[in-house]
Order: sequence, then structure tokens, then C-alpha cells
Amino acid sequence: SSKQRLLVVANRLPVAAVRTGEDSWQLEISAGGLVSALLGVNEFETRWIGWAGVNVPDEVGQRSLTEALAEKRCIPVFLDEEVVHQYYNGYCNNILWPLFHYLGLPQEDRLATTRSFQSQFSAYKKANQLFADVVNEHYEEGDVVWCHDYHLMFLPKYLKKYNMQMKVGWFLHTPFPSSEIHRTLPSRSKLLRSVLAADLVGFHTYDYARHFVSACTRILGLEGTPEGVEDQGKLTRVAAFPIGIDSSRFIRALELPQVKEHIRELKERFAGRKVMLGVDRLDMIKGIPQKILAFEKFLEENPVWQDKVVLLQIAVPTRTDVPEYQKLTCQVHEIVGRINGRFGTLTAVPIHHLDRSLDFHALCALYAVTDVALVTSLRDGMNLVSYEFVACQAEKKGVLILSEFAGAAQSLGAGAILVNPWNITEVAASIGYALTLPADEREKRHQHNFMHITTHTSQEWAGTFVSELNDTIVEAQLRT
Ligand code: UDP
Ligand code: G6P
Repeated sequence: SSKQRLLVVANRLPVAAVRTGEDSWQLEISAGGLVSALLGVNEFETRWIGWAGVNVPDEVGQRSLTEALAEKRCIPVFLDEEVVHQYYNGYCNNILWPLFHYLGLPQEDRLATTRSFQSQFSAYKKANQLFADVVNEHYEEGDVVWCHDYHLMFLPKYLKKYNMQMKVGWFLHTPFPSSEIHRTLPSRSKLLRSVLAADLVGFHTYDYARHFVSACTRILGLEGTPEGVEDQGKLTRVAAFPIGIDSSRFIRALELPQVKEHIRELKERFAGRKVMLGVDRLDMIKGIPQKILAFEKFLEENPVWQDKVVLLQIAVPTRTDVPEYQKLTCQVHEIVGRINGRFGTLTAVPIHHLDRSLDFHALCALYAVTDVALVTSLRDGMNLVSYEFVACQAEKKGVLILSEFAGAAQSLGAGAILVNPWNITEVAASIGYALTLPADEREKRHQHNFMHITTHTSQEWAGTFVSELNDTIVEAQLRT
């Protein structure tokens, strides 16, 4: 075909594999914003390269999984258990993820931390090299190689080492923190230099891009220009590319008979009560305890609402081998139990907390029946759940309460009610405000958001990134 070939390289493939026999596999769709956005992209001849989320030590398994994934245009990178432990659970999710979301570095035992830093950082580089090997094996001349996220910061450098001609882009799906935060990372310089090997580096917001450029100027002493970062005449282009969703997929889903039926059931189930909704991976950055405590405060201060509102919290399990995530699960369960004990009756509880994921149609139905969606991230690269909620609200015109620390606050700020999730009093007051907002005001706010999410789609996001990458390379050739 005449479509441009695109190699999407991300730690997480869009499907996770579960072994059902020696050579048989079941593939389950993965959760998370990166996967949802990229699945909507269809203007390229796309191949995915990444980890299938499973340890496959044997050759029969590796061969059969490779075949099963090929049908989904996915190419696996096999990581053994020790690498996953040190690279994924350790360096990626216990060090980089919290740091990039302003939660700081782990600091229980300084000496022990410093030592594990070293071995986890080595595993990180090793894993990135394994990804580079697989990319290199499947690369064809002219391909665009698009690397994603904090797991793969060494990949641009390793790819360019193989082949200087490779067109390499790198996109970060999380915030990039202030350079003062990035400076605390022992491997701060190496990570920046490796990313700079890419031709184009992209972020969700202008702030994140600016933070990255100042980290390069202050920590590496390079020159920042309006175009990006310059090192001895070589420019790495840096820019903001706000991600979006495939909004028409959600709008279409609401027309399906089974989704309509599901909507009807939910309406019946919660008749006489307003529905509030949270949908998050069970992650520290999502501010789930803060959200639930604000809901408790609202109930406490507004007894008339106690049997007239329900909070549905979908908490998708994630990174369950990382201790911080295990602690969070316990903490959230404890708070939910306490509040349901306090405000529940024999026939109803105020909070329905689900430790599981939902399928796409069930999720759409939930979004559609919601009166108020609550997104309280303490930091969040963009937050696509807020976009998806808006996409499903053409009829209801519900209200979005949105953290000012989510990237989405910059695009949905005028339509949403923005809150500081750390300020429980403010969030509780916003819940009351949202629940009683007059219809014309809701309509106005919804239209604003709906316009945004239907005109800033994932397709457009990917198209813009890839054409900017192509342009950047043409311009670089003209300069030399
Ligand atoms: N999601 C999912 N299964 C669920 C609930 C949510 O796949 O049970 C999806 C949701 O539709 C959204 C993504 O997970 O597309 C979450 O993306 P977001 O940007 O909000 O946050 P992230 O998880 O990437 O931090
Ligand atoms: C965020 C990250 C993604 C990641 C997703 C799910 O969206 O930016 O890179 O895939 O969370 O997390 P997981 O660790 O399960 O891949």
C-alpha cells in the first residue's frame, strides 16, 4: 500500500498475552492512555513493537506468541523476570514515574536506594537495548520509528547508533517535571542526552516541553532555541503535541443496541440518585484517596444528599508488583470501607468501588449515565478519561470536575470545573456546585469541551507528530 510505514515502539503492547497452553495464547486489550490513543490511529501502515506483559522463557512459547501477535501487527520484545523486576517495576515505575509526577525519589534507606539505583539503571539500559535490537531487525528503509514514554529514554540513542538515517521520534506521555526535580535524578544527564539523539521530541503541553528544554540548558549546558535544543550545530526539535481520543468511536458506541440496553439498566439501577464517576488506574498520581475524602466531606456537610448521590469508582489494577501500588490499594479500601460503614444503609452504599477493568461498551454506558465526573489527578500527563467522558455526554451534558494538574486542564479548562485536588474543602464544595448547576450552564460548558475533543483527535495528533518529524528531517538535510 502507499501508506507510510510506522513502527510504534512502546513498553506496553496494545494487547497483553495470557498463556492458555504450551503454544496457545489469549490476548487481552491493555489499559492506559498511550494504548487507547494509538489504537485510534489508522492513516499509517503501523507495526507495534513492545512487551506483551508476560514472561516467556521457552522457545515454543516465544514462537507461538510471536505468531499470535503477528495477527494484531504486534512484534514482541521478550524480557526475562529479572529484567522486568529491575527495569519495569524498579527503574520505570518506582523511580521515573513518581519523579516525573513530582512525587520525588524513593528515600526509605538512602544507601540501599543508591545501590539499587545502579542495578536498576543497568537493567533499564539493557531493556532499552533489547527493544533497539528488535526495532533494528524489523526496520525497513524509510520507516518512521516512533518511540513512546519514559520506559524508552535510551532508545533514540541506541537506534541512531545502529543507523544514523533512521527517522526517530520520541514522545513522553507523562509530565516532564521542572528541571529542579529532574536534577535530583542520579542519571539525569545520560537520560537527557539519549533522548536528544531523536530527531523530534514531543510532549503533551507547552509547559512540559519548556521544562525539558530548561533541563537540557541547565543540566547539560546546551543551548535552547525556539525550535528545540542545539548541541554543536545539531538541532533536536522539541515541541508540544497535545494528544486526543478517537471521539467518533465513543459516539458510535452509544448507538449500539447492547450499549443502549446497558444504559437503560444503569438508569434504572440508580434511579432517584445522581451518579458521580471516577475511572482511573489505581495509581498514586490519580489522587483517589483525595477524591474519596472530598466526597466524604461533601456528604458530611450536606446530609440531604446522603441518599441521593452515589460515587462509582472504577479502579483498574496496575503495576501490582510495585510495593507503593500495593500500599495504595490497602489505603483506598480502608477509606471506602469506613465511608460506606458511616453513610451506608441496609439497602444502599454511597461508594461503589471496583478493583477491575471494564470492557469498552460497559465503560461507554457508564460515561453516558454520569451526572458528574471526578478527575482529581495530583499530576497527569493529559488524562484521556476526561475526554472520553465528554465524548459520551452529548445527551446528558454532565459536569466535569477536573484537576488543574492534569494536562487536560489546559484544553478543557473553560468547560470543566477546575480544582486543586489537595484542597479537599474546595473539591467538596465543587461537588455541591456541580450537582446543582443549572441546565443552561451545563449545556454551555459541555459544548465547549465537546467542540474541543471532537476537533483534537488522536488521529490528528499522530498525523501532526509524524509530519513534523518528516519535515524536521528535510530541514536538517537542507541545513547541511
Ligand atoms: N480504560 C481501560 N479499561 C478500563 C478503564 C479505563 O482501558 O477498565 C482506559 C480508558 O478508557 C482510558 C485509559 O484507560 O483510555 C486511561 O487513560 P488516561 O489518559 O486517563 O490515564 P493513564 O491510565 O494513561 O494514566
Ligand atoms: C500510562 C503510561 C503508559 C502505560 C500506562 C499503563 O498511560 O504513560 O506508558 O502503558 O500508563 O501502565 P502499564 O504500566 O500497565 O503499562
